[in-house]
Amino acid sequence: MAKMIAAITGVAGYVPEYRLTNQELEKIVDTNDEWIRTRTGISERRILKDKEKGTSFMAVQAVKDLLEKTNTLAQDIDLVICATVTPDMHFPDTANLVAYELGIKNAFTYDLSAACSGFLFALETGRRFVESGGYKKVIVIGADKMSTIVDYEDRTTCILFGDGAGAVLLEPTLKENGIKDAILKSDAVGKDFLHMKAGGSLRPPSIETVMSREHFLYQNGKPVFKAAVSGMSGAVKEVLQRNELTKDDITWLVPHQANIRIIESVAHMADFPIERVMVNIQKYGNTTAATIPLCLWDWESQLKRGDKLILTAFGGGYTWGATYLTWAY
Ligand SMILES: CC(C)(COP(=O)(O)OP(=O)(O)OC[C@H]1O[C@@H](n2cnc3c(N)ncnc32)[C@H](O)[C@@H]1OP(=O)(O)O)[C@@H](O)C(=O)NCCC(=O)NCCS
Repeated sequence: MAKMIAAITGVAGYVPEYRLTNQELEKIVDTNDEWIRTRTGISERRILKDKEKGTSFMAVQAVKDLLEKTNTLAQDIDLVICATVTPDMHFPDTANLVAYELGIKNAFTYDLSAACSGFLFALETGRRFVESGGYKKVIVIGADKMSTIVDYEDRTTCILFGDGAGAVLLEPTLKENGIKDAILKSDAVGKDFLHMKAGGSLRPPSIETVMSREHFLYQNGKPVFKAAVSGMSGAVKEVLQRNELTKDDITWLVPHQANIRIIESVAHMADFPIERVMVNIQKYGNTTAATIPLCLWDWESQLKRGDKLILTAFGGGYTWGATYLTWAY
């Protein structure tokens, strides 16, 4: 008997209209377009300017589009998982707010925090719910309003990040195409290099934490860069090997969009031609949990049933991994 697996049956995304260009950043911090493009590959990022709107707003736009294009009724959704490090608030969870806005009444919901690897962690979790047989329609979201935790006085980080949301629908299938394997890892060895220090139970908000800018993302870029390259390339090689695949079998490598040099190094180390690597960092920057679903959204019209994809991510924690799937539509 054929094994039931989970397949992505739809993808949608949302990016805010406002484009924060390198030229505009030149007016805010001591930087320049040439430095940003050569060091990161980024030309512009989208920013949700409206202070009244949080991450859930962008996620709602993406999920609304997803429901429409897949002809799915809100009432038929069983589970909503939202990967984010910029939830609207500590609680209720952002997935809950999204479900409420869209009339998704028969689902349970929760957020998942794994920084830039959040979407892969959430995808694996959603996949397992579907494979359990108890959940027929699962929405997995990756969404972040990074502009709310970026320090626009820190030129080493403010150039990197943007806002956005992406979402996929997971459904069970007895056919061959779907999510096949995932290798996911966590190691808090990176906690000093990439974090947001205050706002949690260890350092709750105070005048002191605000004055010392501890509610902004902090990053020491060099160690993160190195760990990202070895983490992602290692996970890609491992998932290829475990599934008896070579790079020639893979149609697309879909890497987290952190820095073009990281992407190129991962492709090089995995011996993967750059023509088959999805790259949209130039227009969105690093949208944290949203980068991978936004790539799938941008490339959706080029994807064909049976295409073999490897998704790979690396993020704060550290967290990292790679997922192997075949495209189902
Ligand atoms: C942040 C990052 C782009 C910096 O690039 P880098 O090549 O490591 O640059 P360095 O930090 O060595 O800085 C080199 C110089 O450029 C300067 N610089 C840093 N940011 C700058 C900017 N925006 N504009 C101009 N100069 C800048 C530095 O001050 C430094 O000057 P110095 O040599 O006089 O001290 C890079 O480390 C990176 O991408 N890291 C990983 C980031 C990431 O992807 N994080 C998300 C999680 S996956």
